[in-house]
Amino acid sequence: VASDQTTSRRSALARAALTRYQAFYSALVGTHPHVRRGHFQWLSGNWVYPDLRRALEAAGGRVLDVGCAGKPYAGWAPRATEWYGIDVYDGPEVDAVFETGESWPVADASVDTVLCAAVLVHVADLDQFVAEVERVLVPGGRLVATAAFMHNEVKMTDYWRISRPGMIRLFGERLELQEVTTRGAIGSVLGVMALNWMESSVVATKTSYALGILLLPVRILIAAVINTVAPLVDRADRTGAFYGTVFVLAEKPAAAR
Ligand SMILES: C[S@@+](CC[C@H](N)C(=O)[O-])C[C@H]1O[C@@H](n2cnc3c(N)ncnc32)[C@H](O)[C@@H]1O
Repeated sequence: VASDQTTSRRSALARAALTRYQAFYSALVGTHPHVRRGHFQWLSGNWVYPDLRRALEAAGGRVLDVGCAGKPYAGWAPRATEWYGIDVYDGPEVDAVFETGESWPVADASVDTVLCAAVLVHVADLDQFVAEVERVLVPGGRLVATAAFMHNEVKMTDYWRISRPGMIRLFGERLELQEVTTRGAIGSVLGVMALNWMESSVVATKTSYALGILLLPVRILIAAVINTVAPLVDRADRTGAFYGTVFVLAEKPAAAR
């Protein structure tokens, strides 16, 4: 019993230390979706933030944030009358939870904008997902979506990568595509891979974690340098084939086709 208590006290201390460290890191370089240049996710954030901000600024009425997690973009839609978040995992910001593959807890034709940011790679049945988007949108309602194309694996449910033609195939049959845009190029793709590798290596073991905390200023400096150089390298990439994410803006046709 005594050793159980010691173990749980140690893990509570470790959790408290982690929370403090994360708060310190955020104070230095910001937090999603307001990251500063020294943040390791500055490049990947900038692949998606400007498009989302522009699309959401125009979103009036009811917004459905699918895979909402902490609803990071809820403040970006000043004209929205409601921001409703659903997810397959519960959380303080989640309004309704549903099972993967099940119908969403949202009425037919009741939503003006569906937001689906960084979610599609986690969805096992993409056709069912698209059918749900079409079902819940009002005629003339819009889908705003982003998905990763070149990125490292992030967690157990990280099933796919979706290319630009893949996004067109996925949404083009049921919705009218207004924009399908790629973001990033070879410089930022390599930059994101390098920085995500560095940060993943830091959290890989207890020793690397402790070392990573000591080397925090160096990590922030490396991130700031890569985040500055990578966009310059992007400008030299004329291939159009090495991109980080795809952004989609699409509309549900006003009349059934
Ligand atoms: C990378 S996070 C993105 C969170 C948020 N949209 C953002 O942009 O910061 C992916 C989210 O998708 C959710 N998710 C996973 N599988 C899902 C599914 N089948 N349908 C809807 N959301 C799902 C996860 O629980 C998680 O909150």
